[in-house]
Parts: sequence; C-alpha cells; structure tokens
Amino acid sequence: MASNLQLVYASRRNLPTDPAAEADEVRDILTVSRKENAKLDITGALLSSAHCFAQALEGPVEAVEQLFHRIRVDPRHHHVVLLLTRAASERMFPDWSMGFTTPTEVDEIERAAKVLEQAFLSSAEKGDIEAAGTAICELIQSGTFKVQIW
Ligand SMILES: Cc1cc2nc3c(=O)[nH]c(=O)nc-3n(C[C@H](O)[C@H](O)[C@H](O)COP(=O)(O)O)c2cc1C
Repeated sequence: MASNLQLVYASRRNLPTDPAAEADEVRDILTVSRKENAKLDITGALLSSAHCFAQALEGPVEAVEQLFHRIRVDPRHHHVVLLLTRAASERMFPDWSMGFTTPTEVDEIERAAKVLEQAFLSSAEKGDIEAAGTAICELIQSGTFKVQIW
C-alpha cells in the first residue's frame, strides 16, 4: 500500500474580529475543505485557537503538497510555519475530511496557546520543530479536542 504524507503546520490567524464574521470565515474554510479534501483523498484536522491555526493534512504525497501550496498563500492567515512532514501508512484522522476543534475551557485555551507558541518559537530558533509538530497532533487528538465540533 502506498504510504501517505502527513503534514502539520501552524499559522497566525488573520480573521475579522467581529465574532459572527469570524465564524462565517471558519465555516467557509471548513465547507470548502471538506468538499475538496474528499475528492483528493485527503483527511486531517484544523485547530483554531484565539490567535492561531494549526492543521494536520494527510493523504497522497502530491495532493497534500499541492494543497499546502494553496493554503499557505491564503490571506486568512499568515506566518505559516511548516512543522512536520513524514510518510505514514496509517492516518491519524481517517474519519475526518477536515475535523475541526477549538479550545473552550480555560485550561484547554492555555494549553493550546502554550503548544502553539512553542511551535513558533521552535521554528524561529531552528529548535526541535518536529517535536512541536508532534505536540500539535497530540493536542488535537487528546481529550475534548478529539471531538469534532462543526
Ligand atoms: C487555515 C486554513 C486551512 C485550510 N484548509 C484547507 C483544506 O484542508 N482543504 C482545502 O481545499 N482548502 C483549505 N483551505 C482553503 C484554501 O486556502 C483555498 O481557499 C481553497 O482550497 C480554494 O482554493 P482556490 O481558490 O485556489 O480554488 C484552508 C484555508 C485556511 C486559511
């Protein structure tokens, strides 16, 4: 079986501050993602925290790479840092064409902020970027984060 590519990045959100307009943008991203990713055999999950996104994409190598090129230039975020690319025969999010999760409890918000800031720091300082990518995958897969809310 051909192995899939897993790709994880983090970025700074560039969304409207008005909560309704912000929710509309996120819904739009998810609607397009779920439709397009299903066609491309891509699965994954998007984490949205107060100021950042983190996303895991997995699927056929070329499809994931091409999609990432599109996502990276999307004006709805900036400061996109690539954290992890690896070949994997098993998917982390086999049931989600694009899962979505966002922290709601105070401790979850703090934990997500810490993991994300560590990711930006590792990227800027050429630290252990892969560990930061793995930490983001673990964050998305853990506890209440693993519930797809939209
Ligand atoms: C944080 C973020 C995550 C995104 N994730 C996906 C995705 O998983 N799949 C997808 O098709 N588009 C995703 N998009 C939207 C793409 O950037 C792009 O708008 C969409 O693929 C349509 O591309 P096109 O206008 O070139 O047709 C995402 C955008 C953002 C800001």
